[in-house]
Formats: sequence, structure tokens, C-alpha cells
Amino acid sequence: MRSSRFFAAIGAAALILATTAACGEDSSSGGDASEVEVFTWWTSGSEALGLEALEGVLKDKYPDVKFVNGGVTGGGGSAKELLQTRLTANEPPDTFQVHAGKEAQDYIDAGQVEDVSDLYTKFSLNDVFPQDLVDMLTQDGKIYTIPSNVHRANVLWASIPALEAAGLPTDSAQFASIDDFIKALDTIKQKTPQVTPLTVGNTWTQVHLLETVLIAELGPDKYTGLFDGSTDWAGSEVKGALEKFAKLMSYTNADRESMDWEPAMQMLLDGTGAFNIMGDWVPALLDSKNLVAGVDYLYAASPGTEGVYDFLADSFSRCVGAPHKAGAEAWLDVISSKEGQIGFNKVKGSIPARTDIDLAAEGFSDYQQSAADSFKTDAIVGSIQHGAAATIQQGNDTNSAVSKFTTGAMDAAGITTLQQELAAAFA
Ligand code: GAL
Repeated sequence: MRSSRFFAAIGAAALILATTAACGEDSSSGGDASEVEVFTWWTSGSEALGLEALEGVLKDKYPDVKFVNGGVTGGGGSAKELLQTRLTANEPPDTFQVHAGKEAQDYIDAGQVEDVSDLYTKFSLNDVFPQDLVDMLTQDGKIYTIPSNVHRANVLWASIPALEAAGLPTDSAQFASIDDFIKALDTIKQKTPQVTPLTVGNTWTQVHLLETVLIAELGPDKYTGLFDGSTDWAGSEVKGALEKFAKLMSYTNADRESMDWEPAMQMLLDGTGAFNIMGDWVPALLDSKNLVAGVDYLYAASPGTEGVYDFLADSFSRCVGAPHKAGAEAWLDVISSKEGQIGFNKVKGSIPARTDIDLAAEGFSDYQQSAADSFKTDAIVGSIQHGAAATIQQGNDTNSAVSKFTTGAMDAAGITTLQQELAAAFA
């Protein structure tokens, strides 16, 4: 992974936190190995298939450890709230899905995840992950979670039949900027009024869209500056980006609040939607319907973000107070093993966090191989919605502000309020 301003900023934050008292217990072997309760929001489609792949590896490697699926639907937003309720009530699962970056740091600071440095040694993991990524999971020399994958958030997906029906070209050149994209959306609206130009789902997917607009309008450096105070959330560039976001939202489906990302993406497959901006957990859904890139659908960097990789990574913890510590340890072995990372990522759409896997030789898709190349060469920025650049509180406040805006009039006054609330969230 090439170094970037984003990773440097996260590293600096970890260093500051290193001066505070370390929370979490030391990890210890032993404990109850009869089962492992795994908390994720991977409950349907490709995400559930990814989890199932991991469950299969668990069965092979640890036939006596029963897999208990603690998954909840609702995507990152509501799942994280429920997890917080359980952690606060001292009813933790054995392990849960954590985003690398500010979000992982939150759980470390709260003393909710254990130091698992010894497992890095036990499972020979010390040299297999990119150091920048491990640094995001480390405090005071202790490593608290183990990464399972790396995702890219800023991807535009388009239905080729919908583009053709509206007479639009079927290459990505038309999406060099948000303004170009708006022209394409307008063409869809005029030429094929029965098709929703841009599909979205509920609030978290709208925040996801918003962050890609911020990246496009501010560029990677100024976007990263939003999280270290060097870019003003209250400034005119953010205002311009929010105006573009409002414009994009005007092309979206009215029933968006009722759906998660998958039904919103499904509209492209049903012929009722043309474009969607979503992370690269999408391809597995498209593959499962035997759809072919370049024939049925198009993918490209989200408008205006060519050369930028909006990064997020899932990792797994061992909870402080986990009822089945040895079960959690088995799970961490599974998700970090070569078999686990290959089986999981192939169906999940992400790329392995391990750097010692040959994607071409293992039969990863063309998209995944291209994502792995981009990860090495692009400017890396951190996702707000997916916890790399934003703390849990900042993520929650962003979701509330965006929800208030998109369920309201989405007018100039709404943009002003949204900007004030975002500025307050990251103050
Ligand atoms: C992200 C998570 C991904 C994927 C996505 C959609 O937050 O990191 O692995 O699950 O949500 O649910």
C-alpha cells in the first residue's frame, strides 16, 4: 500500500492516543471453544455468502466450534447502534465487524476490544498485512483487531441497457465530473422518464453518495483536510459540494428510505434504475445474476474521482468479556488465514487484506484485480460512512444531518442547516 496523507493522518492520531491509558485486557489463550457468536450486518446476498464462506472454513479448521450468526440487518448504521447497546449492557458477542481507522480507534478507546497482538504472532500475521493498515488498528504498540478485507467505496455502477435506451454512450468518459454526470442523469430523465436516473437507499447509502461528491468536488487533499481541520467544513467549497449533492438527490427514487443498498442496486437489474454509486460489495450481486461487465453493466470511479481510492477495511475483534474467548480466537484464525481471505473476498467483492495472495492465480475477478492495482497507485482517502475517516459519533451525527436534509425540502435553507450540522459533527 503506498503511503498517503490519509494514512499519515490516521497514524498521527494513533500516536496521540498512545499517550492515554490503554484499555482492553491482554488476550489469553484458553476459554470456551464450544461456539463463537459473530456479529456483522452481512445478512443477505453477497455479504451473507461471504460470511458463509468463512463459516465453511471454520467448519474445516475447527469442526468443534459452533458458528452462531449474530448478524442483524439494516446496514452499518442501525447495526452499529445495536452493537453499542449490547456492549454498553455488557452483553458482547464474541467478535464483531469493525472498520479500520477512526471507528476501530473508538472501540479501542472504550476498552471494548482486546489486545490480540499475540495472535498476530501465533498465526504468523506480522508480515502479511500492509503496515499502514495495521497501524490503524494499533494503540500503544498493541494491535486490537485483525483485517479481513479492503473495499473501495467510490464506484459508479450503470445499467448498459438503460444507457442505451436513453441514447447515452456506454463508456465512462461522460462521468469525468459531477457536472458531466448531472447531464447524463438529465438525459435519462428526459428520454426515459419511467427510469430512475440515480438509485439510492436509506440514509447510510445517501451518506455514502455524499462522501463521493465531497471527494469529487474538493479533490483528495482537501477532502482529507476535512478530518484534520485544514479544510473548513463551513467553507464555500463544501457548500458547492452540498449543492451538487442536493441536485443529485433530486434524480433519486422517492421510496429510498424503505431500502438498503441491495434493493436500490436491484433497480438497475430490473430496468427501473440507471445509475448507482456504491462500494465494491456490488459485483458479487451482479455475478450471482450472471451479469457481465461491459455487456450488462458498466463500472467506473464515481464521477470526478478517477485516480482516488475511497478506502475502507473490515476487521474483526475479540470482545472484552467475550463469553467464548477460544471460539473468538478460532474465528480470528479463520478470517486471517489464506483460505479464509480467499474464500471470503472472492464472493464479497473486496480484495484480501493479506498481501501474499496472488489474485490472478486464485481466480479473482477482473474488477478485483483492477481494484488491487488501483489500491497500489491511487491517492488513498478514508470513507466517512465506513468508519475509516470518521469516529462513530461523527458518523452518527453525519447520518442524522443527512437524514434531516433528505427527508426535508432539500432547498437552500436545508443546505445551510446541513452544512452547519456537518461542521458541528467534525468540529
Ligand atoms: C460496509 C462494510 C462492507 C459492506 C457494506 C455494506 O460498512 O464495511 O463490508 O458490508 O458496509 O453493507
